[in-house]
Amino acid sequence: MTPLISRPVAGLAGEAAVPGDKSISHRSLMVGALAVGETTVRGLLEGDDVLRTGAALRALGAEVAREEGGVWRIRGRGVGGLSEPASVLDLGNSGTAARLLAGILATHPFTSFLTGDASLNRRPMSRVTRPLSQMGARFVSREGGRLPMAVIGAAEPVPITFELPVASAQVKSAILLAGLNTPGVTRVIEPQPTRDHSEIMLRHFGVTVAVEELAGGGRAISLTGEAEISGRSIQVPGDPSSAAFPLVAALIVPGSRITIRGVGVNRLRAGLYECLAEMGARLSFANRREEGGEAVADIVAEAGPLRGIEVPPERAPRMIDEYPVLAVAAAFAQGTTRMTGLAELRVKESDRLAATAQSLAACGVEVEEGEDWLVVKGREGEVAGGADIASRMDHRIAMSFLVLGTAARRPVRIDDASFIDTSFPGFARLMNALGADIAEDRRP
Ligand code: S3P
Repeated sequence: MTPLISRPVAGLAGEAAVPGDKSISHRSLMVGALAVGETTVRGLLEGDDVLRTGAALRALGAEVAREEGGVWRIRGRGVGGLSEPASVLDLGNSGTAARLLAGILATHPFTSFLTGDASLNRRPMSRVTRPLSQMGARFVSREGGRLPMAVIGAAEPVPITFELPVASAQVKSAILLAGLNTPGVTRVIEPQPTRDHSEIMLRHFGVTVAVEELAGGGRAISLTGEAEISGRSIQVPGDPSSAAFPLVAALIVPGSRITIRGVGVNRLRAGLYECLAEMGARLSFANRREEGGEAVADIVAEAGPLRGIEVPPERAPRMIDEYPVLAVAAAFAQGTTRMTGLAELRVKESDRLAATAQSLAACGVEVEEGEDWLVVKGREGEVAGGADIASRMDHRIAMSFLVLGTAARRPVRIDDASFIDTSFPGFARLMNALGADIAEDRRP
């Protein structure tokens, strides 16, 4: 347990770069392990979630090593070339690691066992095991399709066309990664577009990925399997989901102005930034560029008044990880913010809808919570704080409420901030360098 306390500060200033994108980091290691030859990754997120993926791939026979200067070098085994692991693969807190690896393992003809921590072992896996079973894999899981789970990979996988019942980039990616080692065309139909990092990464490695825009805004993504892919060099952009924390802090602490350099600004991740712009936030994007097919920019945030907005449900896939921190921004706004279409928040690292609503209420903010919606009554910059918040093994809940503490009347304490290291190692240090006051707090 690492309790942290965030005290109110006068203003944030300066420039920083956040750690690498979590989604892209997982994918760079996984696709690198399936390529022939050497892949080098710069800017990899060295958070526990991604390190778990690295360790799992090593157990499956790939060489994954960090070299001096922070460059990661992967010697892949080729598509279908991984080998049976000697022991259980423990994926810690990471849903992305568990679901994407389930996809890869589904078309390798051996048995492997996946497990995770108490949070991951509560999360639903049937969303991936259902389509992967249609491809020929078999799974033995706990009640309700939960980890620990055995994956018995298909020796003769068959390609499928699968329409996603929930908007999930993890499910899409699991199927596409399974499809890599399947003869014929594997096709995923997503009624609402989700983050396309797998498509971009696979293309970067030379796989032909066809994307068809469908009437009504959906997409059909297909690839032809049994592709030969060879190693590449990858630069991982800063994670927009991590950049969100210092940027929102700068928007709500009066007198602040900060720049976060080199942030990924893929438009399928940009929902939070769309919301903040509608709220009247002073946000600007400079030095726009492209790295490895991903859009990147420097983001400048300046404090100023915010107003409440209606967040439409169709925006959810573009900002699924950002609702807790958006709700914090909304607490400081003038007027009410209504967010709908939030059902997926209930099955993240914690029940994020309940965690956000209860933690805001503890900080003196009026909220209403429904099955899949949240209403936050903005307090025009006057948020009490002064609460002890349970992190619930959820990094984003911990960081969101430490951000709230920077701008509240009284400090906010998080009972266990250790999970922040899953996605944002160095969070408190980076925030403090910009002027926050976040410190360990060992009082009972
Ligand atoms: C991710 C997809 C999202 C997101 C998660 C990372 C990915 O999950 O919440 O943090 O890397 O594909 P879902 O696919 O469950 O929406």
